Amino acid sequence: MAILDSIIARAKQNKQRIVLPEGTEERTLKAADQILAEGIANIILLGSPNEINKLASEFGLKNISKATIIDPENNPNSQKYIDLLLQLRQRKGLQPEQAVELVKDPLYLACLLVKAGDADGEVAGAKNYTGNVLRPAFQIIKTRQGAKCVSGAFLMIFKDKTYGHDGMLLFADCAATPVPTAEELGSIAVVSAGTAKSIFGFDDPKVAIMSFSTKGSAKHETVDKVIEAGNFAKQYAPDLKIDAELQADAALVPSVAKSKAPGSEVAGQANVLVFPSLEAGNIGYKLVQRLAGAEALGPILQGLAAPVNDLSRGCSVEDVVKMIAITANQAIAAKQ
Ligand SMILES: CC(C)(COP(=O)(O)OP(=O)(O)OC[C@H]1O[C@@H](n2cnc3c(N)ncnc32)[C@H](O)[C@@H]1OP(=O)(O)O)[C@@H](O)C(=O)NCCC(=O)NCCS
Repeated sequence: MAILDSIIARAKQNKQRIVLPEGTEERTLKAADQILAEGIANIILLGSPNEINKLASEFGLKNISKATIIDPENNPNSQKYIDLLLQLRQRKGLQPEQAVELVKDPLYLACLLVKAGDADGEVAGAKNYTGNVLRPAFQIIKTRQGAKCVSGAFLMIFKDKTYGHDGMLLFADCAATPVPTAEELGSIAVVSAGTAKSIFGFDDPKVAIMSFSTKGSAKHETVDKVIEAGNFAKQYAPDLKIDAELQADAALVPSVAKSKAPGSEVAGQANVLVFPSLEAGNIGYKLVQRLAGAEALGPILQGLAAPVNDLSRGCSVEDVVKMIAITANQAIAAKQ
């Protein structure tokens, strides 16, 4: 996959430190070995060093010795992260004794490493639920300045290059914010254009915020929200090509766009599709993946102050490798 080659090349040129809290999980460990062998990123594994080294030799992994291993249960720097966690969460009612326990939780410690600048990004989720990966990221790393919420994008890659940027479309939000407000939806549109451009090389993102209505064809409060989201998006990024509200056919098909949304600089040529809710986005990407045979790369979490990505529990070693490379690219983009 050409896009993946360029993502890996970019990661190798500017190696980032990626923390993997599930350091004793088989696919994670095998992916870490491959990443280290190919020089794609520097790796920090969380877990018992004895167990990690034992598993590495059991799996015949030759590169794990190049990783930094931190044992959350026996961490000489734990006080630093306890202090940081309290600084961030005491106002929210976190008690010192709870902080002592939380820094032993690899999913919390990983976010604290990123927040402290001791790692550039995190990948987890091969064995933990999405919500448990996202919660500490929301609480500790938080949304980045300018983003109103966290969202999850999928790069949909089609064999047929009729639609999108060279046969690729970015879909969002498919993973994180169940019912966005108009402001949040507008922000998801802007942040998604950024992901399309900085990570996937869409030189001219054209963002459609979608609905079941095109330019007033239907009236409903949910349509009004999408129109409002479009106005917020234009306010946040006046130079970006964004249009709302568009139906999917008006967003993608030039002949439909001509009759339903004449004069739009996005309709008929959209390459970033923003769905009005998580339900629509999650159902939409799965339908396209299954029925159209598109490859779905993601979810790529966007809108956080530093990158954290969540794996599917059914992921393969290759999926983990790809996600680490994407996370490294997001870390590079976040610093620019
Ligand atoms: C991640 C999730 C579990 C958080 O739920 P929760 O623990 O009830 O979260 P809360 O509402 O208590 O919020 C916890 C913190 O996260 C923040 N937060 C919640 N949702 C957020 C979002 N979408 N973007 C940014 N921050 C968010 C809250 O502001 C809060 O921060 P604070 O404690 O500093 O005030 C929930 O948003 C979720 O289930 N999302 C969908 C994930 C999912 O299952 N996706 C499946 C598709 S792959």
